[in-house]
Order: sequence, then structure tokens, then C-alpha cells
Amino acid sequence: MSHHIQIFDTTLRDGEQTPGVSFSFDERLTIAKQLEKWGVDIIEAGFPASSPGSFKSVEAISKALTKTAVCGLARCKKSDIDAVYEATKEAQLPRIHVFIATSPIHLEHKLKMTEDEVLSAITENVRYAKQYFDVVQFSPEDATRTLLPFLIQCVQTAVDAGATVINIPDTVGYSYPTEYGNIFKTLHEEIQTDQDVIYSAHCHDDLGLAVANSMAAIQNGAKRIEGTINGIGERAGNTALEEVALGLYVRNDYYQNQTKLNLAETKVTSDLISRYAGIRVPRNKAIVGQNAFSHESGIHQDGVLKNPETYEIMTPNLVGVKKNDLPLGKLSGKHAFNEKLKALGYEIDDEGKKQLFKQFKDIADKKKHVTDRDIHALIQGTNHEQRALYQVDALQLQFVSNGLQSAVVVLKDKAGKTYQDSSIGTGSIVSIYNAVDRIFDVSPELLDYTIDSVTEGLDAQGEVHVQINVGGQTFTGIGIDHDILYASCKAYVEAHAKYQLEIQSEEGVTS
Ligand code: KIV
Ligand code: ZN
Repeated sequence: MSHHIQIFDTTLRDGEQTPGVSFSFDERLTIAKQLEKWGVDIIEAGFPASSPGSFKSVEAISKALTKTAVCGLARCKKSDIDAVYEATKEAQLPRIHVFIATSPIHLEHKLKMTEDEVLSAITENVRYAKQYFDVVQFSPEDATRTLLPFLIQCVQTAVDAGATVINIPDTVGYSYPTEYGNIFKTLHEEIQTDQDVIYSAHCHDDLGLAVANSMAAIQNGAKRIEGTINGIGERAGNTALEEVALGLYVRNDYYQNQTKLNLAETKVTSDLISRYAGIRVPRNKAIVGQNAFSHESGIHQDGVLKNPETYEIMTPNLVGVKKNDLPLGKLSGKHAFNEKLKALGYEIDDEGKKQLFKQFKDIADKKKHVTDRDIHALIQGTNHEQRALYQVDALQLQFVSNGLQSAVVVLKDKAGKTYQDSSIGTGSIVSIYNAVDRIFDVSPELLDYTIDSVTEGLDAQGEVHVQINVGGQTFTGIGIDHDILYASCKAYVEAHAKYQLEIQSEEGVTS
């Protein structure tokens, strides 16, 4: 018999704490909708008290989702709880996650509170939250470095005050599977209540054990797993939810627990997060890496041809990697294109389809086979371009001399106003980036520049990710184009535009 394991996705909260990652409002909304499609039970949409931006996106996500519960994070502070209440009040299933640190090191150095003060704060704030929310989740932060007797006391206090979900964070990724599993076993034995309490696992990957620890928690009675897509998050990241989901699916014989996820949406979800976070998924990453279903050795290839199960414990189709998708081409018409959009799960209005079809034709002119991955990139890239404050209107490059290149860049803003400048540099990209810096009159530090291809083959579209640092703040940008110089320019302009948006909102020009 299989039990249901709830999936609590915190990509938009803990995941966004990844150094250098900052999702825009639109990106957060798109991600939340895709997570709902993937079938997660709860989305931790943000920490509303932390910034007006977080508040607004939790509010918008609450209004947009129909099936998935929307949760907001709160410290043990009434104003934080009020902010979560306000931001989630229009959600179909509003949820709150209240936390306070409980380990000796956090009490002494961070909170400067005694154990008794922490217990009082738990009672007061969980009770307060319970007035507004049917389901209150409580987390003793740094639980795995909290002495077990005090951890039990904190959890009992939270349950007595009305918490019905208890999450055990391995905040610093310190625990190992048998130890972490034992915490769940002990809590099940020790906590006295006549309520149905759900125990939840929240692991960080500092020692590379986040997924293993989460699986150990399940074996010891946890019914909820928290994590992020692709395991993004603070430092080494969080539990990679796609790995837990497939672990439970493939080894159902062993774990006898299942998620309600729509596994075929796994790859698209992973691609979306990778693109918006600007973090490439390593090729050898379990489940969603490019090599996850490739076979190099002759013996393996021979075996897979005879029977895929010789070397594949799951099919690529299961997670939405369609090796044999029927590519579109130059001769494909609107009907075939619209059918493809439908098959890939996109609901796009007529005007949007018209624009996309034009762009698809452009790609098809340059590329023999337009695959599903090209279409996903086209749509996700187009979403970016539509939101972009500035579009790259023209780009011209010339070889000067002594290895110098000169670039002319023309940008157009949303109102149609154009901006143009030129510069030289020691290479094509440097000259383009210098010209863009001149347009914006800012010279950021380029922290990262990566280039990859959307698909295989010489005619593939290039996908460029950049990360810039301006005055200690990091901004990311993505550019997808057939021409890698164009893609590079688009990515850099997007990062610059995000910085411009930030200044405007600081100056109160935009709300
Ligand atoms: O890792 C952690 O402790 C957290 C808490 C806020 C639950 O993310
Ligand atoms: Zn965390």
C-alpha cells in the first residue's frame, strides 16, 4: 500500500536565497503556475514581511493558483504573521510557516534568548497564527544541532499551541541519514497529541546528503518533503525535489510511498528554473541532467537497444524527456505549430500564438529540425523578451586592428525610444558589453558568463546566462538566439535592465 508524501516546494523562498539568484515578479508567477502543473501540494511563495516585492508576489500567486496551497514564511513576530495573512488571504488554501531557531549556538549568538524565552515565543506566535490559519506549520530552525530533549520540548510546545505540521530543518546540512531519521522516530514516539500531526523534512545539501536524509525521514514517518527544483538554494542548496519524487516512484517496492506529482512535467519544470535562476543543470545531474539518459559504452548501448531496462531504471518519457518528439520544420504550418503548443501544455492567446509563429518561422529558416526543447526555449525566452524593458534592436560588429573589435548597439525601450552607443574591446563580447555599459552609463563587474546550446547540432540556438555585480547587488540575464553574439547582448542587457528596475523602485518611480 502506498501513502501520500506531500511535496512542499520552496524554490521561490529558500531557492531564491541562492547567491546571485533573484526572480522577477513575472518569473515568480510563471514558476508558481508551473509548480502547480507539476502537482506540488504546497508552494512556499515567499517571506512577505521581508520586502514589498516578496509580499506582492505571494499575494499574486495566492490569487493565481487554484489547486495548490500557498504558504508564506514568518518569524515568531506578529507583524510577520500579519503580513503572511494579508498576502495569502485570497488563496484557495492559505498556509503559514512560522519558525524560530532552537540550537544553542543560535540562541546564544543570534537570538540572544534563553530556552524559556524561545518556548514562550513559540506558544505566543503559533497561537496567534492559528487564529488566522487552519493549518500552521512550525519549524525549529537548526533542529539537527538542537539537543534532542529541548527539540522535543519545542515541538510539543508548538503542537500544544495548535501547529499541525512540524518541519525539522537541517538548516546547515549537518545531519546524516540514520541520525536525521532517528529524530523523526523519536518525535513520533515522544510527542503527545490527539491531533493528526504531519512531520516534514527540510534538508540542506552541505554534505551532499539532503536527498538521502529526506528519504531517511520518510522511512521514519515523515509525510512531507520540502525542497527545491534542481536543488537550488542557500550555499550547497536544498533537497532536489525531482530526485525525491523519482526515488519514491522507481523504488516504490521499497519506500511504499508516493507523491501526487505529474512526473512528465519534471523536465520542463527543471528547465524553467534553470533558465530563470541562471544556473545550468550539470550534465550528470540525476533525473534532469543532459546525460541522465545517455549511454556511452558500447556494451551499455547494445544492452539498451536489446532492452532499455538493462541499463535504464526509468524511461526518459517518464520525466518528460521525449527523445523521439516529432520535430517541426520549415514547412510546418500554423496548425501544426498550434497543435505542438497544445501538446506541450502551453495555453497562449491568439495574438501570442501569432507572434510566436513568426519567431518559430525565423528559427525554422535557420534550423532544419525545430524540437520541443527549441519551442520551450522560444516560449520561455519570449516571455523574457516581452517583459524586458529594453530590446536589442540592432547590433553591428567590426574588426578594427591589433585584435580590437568595435561594436555598435541599438536598444529600444518599451515606449519605442531608441538608445545607441558604440565602443571597442579586445574581443566581440567585450566590445558589445562596453557599448551597453555606455548606454546605461554603468560599468558592472561581470561575475559570470556561460554559453550553452539549447539543443545538439551546429544549427542549435545559443543560450547565454550572465551575472553582473553593481554596487554589491547581483543581477542575472538570459539571452537566447541563433547568433551567440546577439544572445550575449540580450543577456547582458537584461541584467542591466534588472538593475535599472531596482533603482527605479528604490527611487519610488515605479511601485
Ligand atoms: O533551513 C532552514 O532552517 C529554513 C527555515 C526557515 C525553515 O529554511
Ligand atoms: Zn532552509
